[in-house]
Amino acid sequence: MKPTKILFVCLGNICRSPAAEGVMKYLAKGLPIEIQSAGTAGYHIGELPDVRMRSHAQKRNYNLISHAQQFDPSKHFEQFDHIIAMDANNLSDLKAMDRNKKYHHKLSLMTDYSQTMDVNEVPDPYYGGPAGFEHVLDILEDACAGLLKQLQIK
Ligand code: 4NP
Repeated sequence: MKPTKILFVCLGNICRSPAAEGVMKYLAKGLPIEIQSAGTAGYHIGELPDVRMRSHAQKRNYNLISHAQQFDPSKHFEQFDHIIAMDANNLSDLKAMDRNKKYHHKLSLMTDYSQTMDVNEVPDPYYGGPAGFEHVLDILEDACAGLLKQLQIK
């Protein structure tokens, strides 16, 4: 069976989207799902996730090892089935790159899949303290489980 391909997108691809990638890979282990992440900006291309994000994730047994890449509209819109933005800015940046709205049906917000948490974005933890990173992981664990349910991949 053809795998379902998911791309998580944030700004820098060093905090939120690589964490979403790590959580989803953990939940989807053994299922035909391919997962990557990317940033709308290119500041951190090639870097490992932020050390704070990695250490908070590691405490929950998520090993974040992907290297940052910038979202590339010339290939990623075609390549992925679901392109999932962390916040409204990320989503509007993606929409702006899809000028003909050819791929708008693939776009959604991570928090569209939230099950128990009453949130409408995954807030950027970059300039905040440790609680922000824990909050990101709480939101992602809830929303990734909701996404997996919605995909109905057995
Ligand atoms: P992310 O967080 O979008 O969750 O990866 C950020 C990482 C870096 C920057 C901003 C947000 N930055 O300005 O360098």
